[in-house]
Amino acid sequence: MTVDDVKGMLVVGAGQMGSQIAMQSALHGVQVTLNDLSMEILEKAMKGNRGHLDRRVSKGQMTKEAMEAALGRVRLEPDLAKAARDADFVIEAIVERLEPKRECFAKLDRLCRPHAILASNSSTLMISQIAPATKRPAQCANMHWFYPPLVMRLVEVVKGRETSEETVQLVAALTRKIGREPVILRKELPGFLVNRILRSLAREAYYLLEEGVASFADIDRAVELGLNHPMGPFKLADFSGLDIGYNARLETYEVTKDPKDLPPKALEARVKRGDLGRKTGKGFYDWSREPPIPTAD
Ligand SMILES: NC(=O)c1ccc[n+]([C@@H]2O[C@H](COP(=O)([O-])OP(=O)(O)OC[C@H]3O[C@@H](n4cnc5c(N)ncnc54)[C@H](O)[C@@H]3O)[C@@H](O)[C@H]2O)c1
Repeated sequence: MTVDDVKGMLVVGAGQMGSQIAMQSALHGVQVTLNDLSMEILEKAMKGNRGHLDRRVSKGQMTKEAMEAALGRVRLEPDLAKAARDADFVIEAIVERLEPKRECFAKLDRLCRPHAILASNSSTLMISQIAPATKRPAQCANMHWFYPPLVMRLVEVVKGRETSEETVQLVAALTRKIGREPVILRKELPGFLVNRILRSLAREAYYLLEEGVASFADIDRAVELGLNHPMGPFKLADFSGLDIGYNARLETYEVTKDPKDLPPKALEARVKRGDLGRKTGKGFYDWSREPPIPTAD
């Protein structure tokens, strides 16, 4: 199969990621079926997409006709059997837990035509953990998008132990076709590329904070002005949600038992107080102010 043979795409899971992955693909002319557990969830997802595109129309970035055409290319289908019928390419973006993902892949394997590719958007689960639930592991790969998919250009394409080279090239070609930039990882490893690099940057930033070398606001400023990053590591942590980073560290520690992987004190204290970053209004910064100002400690 070549990228031009991909006529129908299925996105399973219409949450923060899946809804926008479907929309991004439809914006580039692909017919997409979006699946989730209920029609209510699917309609809510498309309401969000319509809002994003409405803003583009009002800024003059796209026409109303182009918006309606793109929205019209997304079919909503809560019945997975019906949704999978015409799919040449599937992107799974359901809850980040191994068993539900394996179950989902096993079902997709039974329901999809034999040539269909099955990709997972998982951030942490590697395709070699999921693909054995299918009889087509050579046609399974990680296709890791970044939030929000309507904005972020990168997609990490990861070759699992049994992923074929043809599958990797097809996932990369489809990524380009739908307006995103693939990077190919020839080996799978936890965290892929970007999250590993981000984690090592964050680990050093917390070390410098805990050693009293500089305040978190100055560390952020140094990274923003000295490395030209749009946000320093503490602001970024606030932006993503401090609980997300906290739980990810606890999960890593469960596997490694390395005390260096435990959540740093400055992070733990904020999570325990319920200061989870931008979503609760306060984390390392007070987000009720514009621009956000550093909190006291
Ligand atoms: N949020 C991020 O920043 C981010 C970034 C990259 C990758 N990811 C990955 O994308 C995936 C989805 O994350 P999200 O943030 O969109 O989660 P989310 O919780 O917003 O959405 C998950 C959706 O999957 C649906 N769902 C659950 N089980 C299902 C099933 N069996 N069949 C169909 N739908 C089902 C849920 O109803 C929900 O709408 C995860 O694997 C996550 O690791 C997330």
